[in-house]
Amino acid sequence: MANLELTDDVPSVADDGVWLTCIECGESFAPFEEVRYTCDDCDGLLEARYADLPTFDEFEGEGVWRYSAALPFEEGVTLPEGNTPLHRVPRIEEEVGVGSLRVKHEGMNPTGSFKDRGMTVGVRVAKEIGVGRLACASTGNTSAALAAYGARGGMETLVLLPAGKVAAGKIAQAALHKARILKVDGNFDECLDIVQDLAGRGEAYLLNSLNPFRLEGQKTIGLEIMEEHYADYGEFPDRIVLPVGNAGNTAALYKCFRELVKAGEITEDQVPKITGAQAEGAAPMVEAIEEGNDETRRWEEVETRATAIRIGNPVNAPKALPGIRETGGTAVAVSDEEITAAQRDLAGEGVGVEPASAASVAGLRKLRDRGVIEDDESVVCLTTGHLLKDPDAAAAAGNDPEPVDNSTEAVLDLLGEN
Ligand code: F0G
Repeated sequence: MANLELTDDVPSVADDGVWLTCIECGESFAPFEEVRYTCDDCDGLLEARYADLPTFDEFEGEGVWRYSAALPFEEGVTLPEGNTPLHRVPRIEEEVGVGSLRVKHEGMNPTGSFKDRGMTVGVRVAKEIGVGRLACASTGNTSAALAAYGARGGMETLVLLPAGKVAAGKIAQAALHKARILKVDGNFDECLDIVQDLAGRGEAYLLNSLNPFRLEGQKTIGLEIMEEHYADYGEFPDRIVLPVGNAGNTAALYKCFRELVKAGEITEDQVPKITGAQAEGAAPMVEAIEEGNDETRRWEEVETRATAIRIGNPVNAPKALPGIRETGGTAVAVSDEEITAAQRDLAGEGVGVEPASAASVAGLRKLRDRGVIEDDESVVCLTTGHLLKDPDAAAAAGNDPEPVDNSTEAVLDLLGEN
């Protein structure tokens, strides 16, 4: 089992109070001297660690870099990102029946997904290490963010995508921001296998969520939620429900809360219950939680309309499974129909999201129906990507355009006013 405890010992390899630790064997590494994604000794996942953990009163400014005290650098390659809305959704709140419901819309980031928070930090680290080509495997959003932040940083980018399974908006972004785009006849997990191989051979710097620094940026979602919820309600949320694919965000939220507890800023029982939602056709995390397993089983066949989370081998599971368990959360699988229904409900509140994002609200509804989530809980659902990412899914879920003759009379006829 992974050891995710934050300790007080600062190893000699630390650079300005920052280092990397292997969560499996505890070995420590210098953070920026060499390119490294996993442990040299045991191949375990790495985590960024700090000699000084931040307190809420150290945060100033807006967006991801407001939280520089919790990050490895003071500033990064920025567009800028973060500071996303925490929408009220009164109709869904009433219908689902919880104490309060807010929707953190990460689709409002510069490239339309939460990935920007990770990239602003990840590309900054890439510059520090001095790498050439940046690369990722992607179900779409990571590639869009990598292309934009790579362009901003003046760096070459390469993305591997599962052919035919990436939504149109995301490919358009990667293309226009000048990524080299390779369409692979395989799924996301297979694309990631290849990119890991390329990275291992020194051909590219990997910016998937396996890269521990990306998760540092994504931690700021948790910090924003905690600050804003406290400002609005005088307390932290009981639960955060989020869509899960590679489980990077799940791991990042848990890291955020572990650091706040260790810094003495919140108590263990103020940590929100981290609750994951996956599509039924790609639900290895749900399987592991339900069966009480310490590891996920790799699903070779995955399918869902929510292509962003069409993932069968969540590489961050060793960080994310303890996050769900230790915070008292859970994981739930939702059908494509339930996802589309939730996407429509969010749209009915003016909040436009892509299908994967709506899995959080679909998951909340299912867990309320099952009585797992109680009626007095304060809940935040994360919506991870913008509606325009997947215009085809949005059009299919929404109203059909109606043809009409070119006259006011014809329009009135159609409206039933004549
Ligand atoms: N929601 C959206 C819109 C995503 O694009 C992703 C992941 C997730 C949720 C899942 O997040 O991996 O941290 O559990 N998209 C990646 C990509 C895999 O390539 O864009 P996770």
